[in-house]
Amino acid sequence: MNDIKIRSYQPSDLNAGRNLWKELTEHHQKIYNDPTIGGDNPGLYFDKLLAQVGPERLWVAEDKGDVIGLTGLILNGPEAEVEPLIVTPNYRGKGIGRALLNHAIEQAKKLEVRYLSVRPVARNVEAISFFYESGFGLLGHIEMFMDLKPSKPDAWKSELILFGHKFKF
Ligand SMILES: CC(C)(COP(=O)(O)OP(=O)(O)OC[C@H]1O[C@@H](n2cnc3c(N)ncnc32)[C@H](O)[C@@H]1OP(=O)(O)O)[C@@H](O)C(=O)NCCC(=O)NCCS
Repeated sequence: MNDIKIRSYQPSDLNAGRNLWKELTEHHQKIYNDPTIGGDNPGLYFDKLLAQVGPERLWVAEDKGDVIGLTGLILNGPEAEVEPLIVTPNYRGKGIGRALLNHAIEQAKKLEVRYLSVRPVARNVEAISFFYESGFGLLGHIEMFMDLKPSKPDAWKSELILFGHKFKF
């Protein structure tokens, strides 16, 4: 962790950003056991994020010139969302995600954000634990949905109990 630097996003980080986004998509493909998530070229979603967030609200973690992590802040008045937060697989579990998240939190404080959120998918249990332990202890919106074209009977995991109701996730 000593050599890791967190710095602002630069135009030369475009390919690294796309790769990290691809790795985030692969993480979602794995947890949902669905290789179709993200389509044919998931890295290009990074370009959309860049357009939405703006380069000045994106930060990368760098190790000896290699970009190994990415975070950003989507601002919306007094609110902001940390999006994305990704560490390349070989570097996970070394404190880099925590450092990137802390950086985003500090930036949000400087921007006088009041409510800072994260929106992990419900099945990303490790990320939910990570965010909870990092201080995200308040629950805001809960997105409930129906699968109108279920691919297989066991597509959804059982079960998560919220306010006495059993959800699949
Ligand atoms: C979630 C993610 C960003 C965390 O980054 P990381 O660098 O691996 O996490 P860190 O090493 O900074 O860990 C910070 C803390 O979380 C804990 N933690 C990290 N990964 C964990 C895991 N898989 N399970 C349980 N705890 C975990 C660590 O033990 C550590 O706790 P500590 O500081 O008390 O020791 C990273 O695992 C990742 O990129 N995951 C895939 C993408 C993703 O899911 N992003 C979030 C989408 S919203």
